[in-house]
Amino acid sequence: ESTHITLHPDFSISPVDPRIFGGFLEHLGRAVYQGIYQPDSRHADENGFRSDVLQALKALRLTTMRYPGGNFSSGYHWMDGIGPKDQRPTLNDLAWASIEPNQFGTDEFLKLCRLMNWEPMLACNLGTGTPEEARNWVEYCNLPGGTKFANLRVRNGSVDPSRVNLWCLGNEMDGPWQLGHVPAGQYALRAQQAAKMMKDADPDIKFTVCGSCTVDLPTYLEWDKEVLDYVGDYADYISLHRYAVNRGNLPDYLASIAGIDRQIEEVDAVCRFIQAKRKSHKRTYLSFDEWNVWYRTTGPEFTNGRGKFAAHLLEEEFDLSDALVVAGFLNSFIRHADSVKMASLAQVVNAIAPILTRGDDLLLQSTYYPLLMFANRRDGLAMQMRISGPNYPNDIYGNINYLDGSAIWNESTLHLFLINRSLNEMSDAIVDFNAMIQSVESAEVLTARQATSANSFENPNEVCARSFDSIKVKNGRAELTLPPLSFAAITFQ
Ligand code: AHR
Repeated sequence: ESTHITLHPDFSISPVDPRIFGGFLEHLGRAVYQGIYQPDSRHADENGFRSDVLQALKALRLTTMRYPGGNFSSGYHWMDGIGPKDQRPTLNDLAWASIEPNQFGTDEFLKLCRLMNWEPMLACNLGTGTPEEARNWVEYCNLPGGTKFANLRVRNGSVDPSRVNLWCLGNEMDGPWQLGHVPAGQYALRAQQAAKMMKDADPDIKFTVCGSCTVDLPTYLEWDKEVLDYVGDYADYISLHRYAVNRGNLPDYLASIAGIDRQIEEVDAVCRFIQAKRKSHKRTYLSFDEWNVWYRTTGPEFTNGRGKFAAHLLEEEFDLSDALVVAGFLNSFIRHADSVKMASLAQVVNAIAPILTRGDDLLLQSTYYPLLMFANRRDGLAMQMRISGPNYPNDIYGNINYLDGSAIWNESTLHLFLINRSLNEMSDAIVDFNAMIQSVESAEVLTARQATSANSFENPNEVCARSFDSIKVKNGRAELTLPPLSFAAITFQ
């Protein structure tokens, strides 16, 4: 039995915001040190940045980069990371129990963003920091000079301000593990105070308030409601976080893509509720500013740096099934292009990342490929898509189509993204475009021998994208056959 997919040029959702293809870089394990920044590597450029890592990231065309955390940001004082490097303090990072030498800080990060064409997104410290400290950081980054913190930046060598537009008001403040965690009402006070002072420094900046960081906390949605109600129109975006977990049942794991849809719709419902209640013209949009797969390296042996510098933390080794779930996140964001306006892959190198380094070597993990397949296929309108065909039951989400999909249309080109969740069966699909397309421009498919196939330094090409040719286009319809456990990205014109 084939799956029928229907699209129509009149049925779009919303333009896809390029900012949903963002990344996240935290001072965590070997993400910054030995990932991005390693002056003693043979790949180091004149800034000490690893050119091999940057080249691999460049191909992903990430749009925004969130920094410096994560949990790290809730104990981070940005002034420790500026000025002459030999005068910066070496500290205990309380979030990951690691040594933080502060050799990479605000100026290095903003230089990296300029080099990579990333829009910076800074997360200020509302855990152990103060609203005033956050406000001073805005002055340091964005103001032209003439006052204390802007002058300091000029003295540190960055004459022109960077104009950082995107600011997160803390990180995961609803999580009891967070440094400075408080109940929703107290966080809302801090966030509102910080937002007011930061906006006084630069009225053009945009804020993301901390929403619920997992659907599993008892405060889920109540937190979001209380925070949004108090912070009001300062909330340009609210954050969502999600790390997909394989609990040992592969069909359920792949079905959990439906949980991403559900989480987005639930948080959006709270935003709409508060907007209506406050009779505000302003809609708060969603920033999925931490998303990925993460379940193998969550125990203390992988999350506690034990007082070391650049410990191997959260170095998850991804397989084919994880790559399919990563594709599922992006499909879900595209399906919700009307509400999800930003998203940040957590993270970009070494810690839960598509790229691993070992000495001077570099490995592209399975999850690198779906990101690459989306990277050049992302401009346009997200399209409504009807999928009807074979499905399987799931205890939480009901009947799940074997195929998961999304589509982007830009008047002459249609990008189609399809995941086949069937473990053993090829899936035939008939795509009815209603006159949108004529032929295939390019197509790739990601699959491998089995769900657990993974790339390694010894065997780096087990799971990578290959060209996909089992597609026939005739009379405005396409027929294609997806291998079991696969992800295909196809551009039609
Ligand atoms: O991305 C790893 C960690 O996951 C982040 O520091 C934190 O915000 C989340 O719990």
